[in-house]
Amino acid sequence: MADNIHPVFDRIVQREDKEKMLNQRSKVIWLTGLSGSGKTTLGVNLEKMLFAKGFITQVLDGDNIRSGINRNLKFTEADRYENIRRIAEVNKLLLNCGIITINCFISPTEEIRNIAKEIIGVENFIEVFVNSSLGVCEGRDVKGLYKKARKGEIKNFTGIDSPYDTPLGYDLEVRTDLFGIQESAQILFDFVLDKVTYE
Ligand code: ADX
Repeated sequence: MADNIHPVFDRIVQREDKEKMLNQRSKVIWLTGLSGSGKTTLGVNLEKMLFAKGFITQVLDGDNIRSGINRNLKFTEADRYENIRRIAEVNKLLLNCGIITINCFISPTEEIRNIAKEIIGVENFIEVFVNSSLGVCEGRDVKGLYKKARKGEIKNFTGIDSPYDTPLGYDLEVRTDLFGIQESAQILFDFVLDKVTYE
C-alpha cells in the first residue's frame, strides 16, 4: 500500500446493493480481436439489445479511450499494456457501480489480456474472441489503416508488424467472418443474458 493513502472501500455502498437496485449483475464483457474484426459493431449492437431489456451498460472502445483518458499512449508494447491496465481499472470502478461494461479493444497478447483479467477478477470477466482472419479484416479495411500499415506509414500495426496472439482462455468465440452483424450480436446476447440477470 502506498504511503499516506487510506482507501475507504469498506465504507462505500456495496456493489451488491447497487446490483440489486439496478436489477442486474455487473460483468465485464471483453471483446478481443484484430482491428476490423467487428468488435465495436458487435459491442454497440449488444448494448442496444441489453438496453432494450432494461440493462444499464457502458461501451468502452479503443478509439474513444485513446482520444480521452489514454490520449498520451501509442502502440508500443509498453503503451498497449498501460492502455489496458488503465482500462481494467476503469472497469473495476464501473463493476462496483453495478454496471455491465462492453469492452472493444484489440488487447493483442495473452499477457495483456491476463493483466486485465487479474485486475478485474476472473469471476467478473467474460472473454470473447471476435474472430475474423487477418485476410478478411484487411480485405474490409474499414478505416484504411491496413493499407497505410502495408505502405509503412503506420508502424507497429497489429497483424502486420505487431503480434496478435490467438486467445487461449476465451469464454466465447464469435466468427464474424461467418456470421453477419445481427447473427453475431444474437450469439453474444444469448451467451451473456443469464450472466447479467439478477438472481
Ligand atoms: S490495443 O492494442 O492497445 O488494445 P486499441 O484497441 O486500444 O489497441 O486501439 C486499436 C485502434 O487504434 C484500432 O482499431 C485502430 O483504429 C487504431 N490504431 C492506430 N494505430 C494502430 C496500430 N499501430 N495498431 C493497432 N491499431 C491501431
